[in-house]
Amino acid sequence: MTTEQIPVAPRASNIEYAIRDVVVPATKLEDQGHTILKLNIGDPIAYPGLPTPQHMVDAYAAALHDGHNGYSPSYGLPSLRAAIAKDEQRKGWPAQPEDVYVCHGVTEALQILFASVLCEGDKVLAPGPHYPPYMAYPQMYGASTVEYMLKPNDGWRLDLDDIREKMDDSVRLLVLINPNNPCGSVANADEIAGVLDIARNYPNCIVVADEIYDGLDFTGEHVSVAKCSADVPVVSLNGVSKVYYAPGWRIGYMAIHDPSKRMLLVRDGIERMLRSRLCASTPAQLGYLAGLESDRSWMEGYAAKVVEQRDVCVNRIRSIDGLEVQSSGGAFYMFVKLTDEKWALDDKQFVLDLLHEEHVLVVHGSGFSPELGRGHFRIVYLPEVDVLNEAFDRIERFLIRHR
Ligand SMILES: Cc1ncc(COP(=O)(O)O)c(C=O)c1O
Repeated sequence: MTTEQIPVAPRASNIEYAIRDVVVPATKLEDQGHTILKLNIGDPIAYPGLPTPQHMVDAYAAALHDGHNGYSPSYGLPSLRAAIAKDEQRKGWPAQPEDVYVCHGVTEALQILFASVLCEGDKVLAPGPHYPPYMAYPQMYGASTVEYMLKPNDGWRLDLDDIREKMDDSVRLLVLINPNNPCGSVANADEIAGVLDIARNYPNCIVVADEIYDGLDFTGEHVSVAKCSADVPVVSLNGVSKVYYAPGWRIGYMAIHDPSKRMLLVRDGIERMLRSRLCASTPAQLGYLAGLESDRSWMEGYAAKVVEQRDVCVNRIRSIDGLEVQSSGGAFYMFVKLTDEKWALDDKQFVLDLLHEEHVLVVHGSGFSPELGRGHFRIVYLPEVDVLNEAFDRIERFLIRHR
């Protein structure tokens, strides 16, 4: 009997997802009986005090009980597509239900979009640092991701000069993550206008606007990219995961704003891809629909709690020798700079040693960009204040011990 291993496809063996990769050693420690303070995962349900709103849970449960357990149309339930279009109209552009395609989360929308646009040798221009799938998935289609810089010393603002320099005709998708994961920065209308001005010169380029954190904007400056575009094609991405606090439901969407009608072929490709994977979960779509159609004033209370926790983190970080941070204007992330040389040169070792010695879990910055994220780590500021304070006590102790 041969024990020779059956080969794995490189497209799978090359995939890395830093956020979950660091969970592996943490789980080992938990199996040994240790309690880990987790500041690593962008899942609001993993932390106390931010549950999925009851009326949405009830709608999901009612959908199950009422027998909505079959396949839905491939592009999404008509009622949900209409509600999403209305919500996008509220954000300032004339979305129609036919422009909306419901997916198993933004993650699936990205896979379908990449599959429908990218060919061998094409490029995706994405912010550095960025949410890891923007680097991992394009490779599967023979394309590559090039990063444009977010300015580390200027609130992680978009470096428009860098975008301009890196644009060429092979860039098919220009990505904006707004608010940004992992930096928590919010690009304003001027920055967005700058991006659109650049994209306008490249007729085969589509702007991808990942706005999954748009309801967690603490600057008051967030604006939909689609709203700002009178000509450049924009694909807006959003869903139930972050702002509606139900990431496990796996519902998101892409909404296509194509004022100059240049995306007809791509849309045909997207629709074929969507039909070939059947549909997103039907009862979960009905749960999301309830969220969109009901009063949303509950979001204010949730956001207030998140802001309070953000402020605790900023104050603590600024008081710790060896750490620096630009405050976060949105989402629930902060990208913290390590100023001690030893850790600045090896942020992954910092994360692993901190985990093993102090049982605090954060994510290494280089997992969000080998070059532009180096010397940083990301925290999620969703844990309760006492947990955050305890985590910072331990981080401070750790930094002092290793100096
Ligand atoms: C920028 C960004 N886009 C998309 C996602 C995933 O979205 P979904 O849960 O809808 O797949 C995340 C999750 O952390 C994210 O940070």
